[in-house]
Amino acid sequence: MTMLSPSILSADFGSLQEEILKLERGGADFIHLDVMDGIFVPNITFGAPVIKKLRNTTKVPFDVHLMIDRPERYIKDFAEAGADIITIHEEATTHLHRTIEEIKSYGLKAGVALNPSTSLDSLEYILDYIDLVLIMTVNPGFGGQSFIRSMERKIKRMRQIIDDRKLNILIEADGGSKLDNAKEIIDYGLDMIVVGSGIFEAKDVIERTKMFKEL
Ligand code: DX5
Ligand code: ZN
Repeated sequence: MTMLSPSILSADFGSLQEEILKLERGGADFIHLDVMDGIFVPNITFGAPVIKKLRNTTKVPFDVHLMIDRPERYIKDFAEAGADIITIHEEATTHLHRTIEEIKSYGLKAGVALNPSTSLDSLEYILDYIDLVLIMTVNPGFGGQSFIRSMERKIKRMRQIIDDRKLNILIEADGGSKLDNAKEIIDYGLDMIVVGSGIFEAKDVIERTKMFKEL
C-alpha cells in the first residue's frame, strides 16, 4: 500500500490546524511540511516554531521537507519541533553524510531529496545510510506545477536499484500528482506520494483525501 503524505503548501495558512485535521480525517498517513527559505528555492514558507505549534494538533507523523540552504544549521530545531522524517536536499548541503547522521542521531528517519535534474548517481555512496529518497517531480518552490515527464524513468530506475540491492529505503515523489495521474505515478514504484494542490483545490478536502487514499 502506497502511503499518502498530503502537503499543506496549498492549504489555507490562516487555519492550518483545521486543515491538518481534515487531512487526518481523510486518512493521511503523514503530513508533508514544506519548509522554504527564499534562497535554495524562490519562495518562503514557515519554520520550526510553526511546526512545533502544529505538532499538538494531530498524532499523524510529520514528513518535513527542508528546501533550505545548508540545512545542517537547523536539524536540531526541526527535530525538537516534532518532525518524524526530515528530508534534506542533496544540492543544499556540502556534507550530506554528516547531516544525514545528525538527523538519525535524534531517532528520526532521514531522507534525501533530489531536484529533477540531479542524477541518481549522486546517491551512490549515501544509499546505505538513508531511510527515504524523495524524487522531486517538479522544480521545488511552488505548488500547482505539472509533473515532469522524465521523472517516470527516474522513479522506475530508483525502484530497480532499491529492489536489486534489497535496500530498506522508501521512495517518495513530490509534485504534480493529481487525481487523474496519481495512480500511474504510484505504479512507477512509489512507497509514498505527496499531493498538495490536488487535495486543497477540492471543496471537500476530507473527501478528496479519501479519494487519493483509495488510489
Ligand atoms: C514543492 C513542494 C511540494 C508541493 C507539491 O516545492 O515540495 O510538496 O506542495 O505541490 P503540488 O502537489 O501542488 O505539486
Ligand atoms: Zn515537498
